[in-house]
Amino acid sequence: MEKLVSSWYKNKPLPESYIFPPETRPGNLTVPTCKTIPVIDLGKAEGRNRTRIVQQICKASEEYGFFQVVNHGVPEDLMKESMDVLKEFFEMPAEDKAVLYSEDPRNRCRLSTSSVNYAREKVHHWRDNLRHPCLPGLEDCIQLWPQKPIRYREVVARFSIEAKKLGSRILEFVAEGLGLEPGYFGGELSEFMQLSVNHYPPCPDPSLTLGIAQHCDPNLVTILHQGDVNGLQVFNNGEWIRVEPLQNAFVVNIGNQLQIISNDKLKSVEHRVVTNSNLARTSAAFFIAPSGDSIIEPAKSLIGQASLYRAFEFKDFLLHYFPNLENNDVVMERFRSQA
Ligand code: OGA
Ligand code: NI
Repeated sequence: MEKLVSSWYKNKPLPESYIFPPETRPGNLTVPTCKTIPVIDLGKAEGRNRTRIVQQICKASEEYGFFQVVNHGVPEDLMKESMDVLKEFFEMPAEDKAVLYSEDPRNRCRLSTSSVNYAREKVHHWRDNLRHPCLPGLEDCIQLWPQKPIRYREVVARFSIEAKKLGSRILEFVAEGLGLEPGYFGGELSEFMQLSVNHYPPCPDPSLTLGIAQHCDPNLVTILHQGDVNGLQVFNNGEWIRVEPLQNAFVVNIGNQLQIISNDKLKSVEHRVVTNSNLARTSAAFFIAPSGDSIIEPAKSLIGQASLYRAFEFKDFLLHYFPNLENNDVVMERFRSQA
């Protein structure tokens, strides 16, 4: 519990164990300000415009692996209410958070600072993280969720339902763009959804550490609300580019499974989070994922000359993913056809 960054960071210099090696630290933080990921207006997505939106989504997913959506249908007041509750969660006194603190990744609802194993990681991340399942079985999942703040369960349940709806809608656009039948990604390929809430306290030296190190998301697709503070960066054409926080937007990114099913047409792209010296940042990521025993393989109609990946069970992907979290090439290589 005392490991939570939020419980000790005030008025302290950056501890040695949070300093990244020179080749992965953000350094002087100069990233181009003119380049960012595409913003797609889903408010115009029906009728004759639908095809254009589908094309924009596919192009962004091929070139960046990331895009933002606005006018997406999730009520703005619900987004605000949800982010307020999530921030309140991290602002609670230590004893209220202690009940959920755990370093055991098998714990389904847990508050921690690391993605996998605090004791074994070489460098620690400058963030606290709360994660829990939302689907399948929202009603059962809710029983695992924080009981404080009092309105957490009710508000986050409504937010989860909306995030899933938006995710399903985007997956329908993606299926259409790839020429797959409607509902291709429905069912077991998107049966699971986990909420991961990151809280990055203000950091004494953002040039030396990271909120989350470079990684790809292992799931199908991620729907993220990053609040109003800068931090998320995406690797594109050999450089890190910033994802501008847009009020009421969601950031969408292609996960490893969607890259594989599309036979590398769409890209799962590396991203990271830098910290901020005077502002705390809170983000909410909904990871939409297959069930553990779903068979993942490139869609038959997209194989063309060759299937670039062999068939595997999603749970085997995860087993290989976590120990190699920061090396996406190593993870993907294992599932490529000739490996
Ligand atoms: C993640 C992630 C980005 C953010 O949780 O996988 O990339 O802005 N989060 O917090
Ligand atoms: Ni991520």
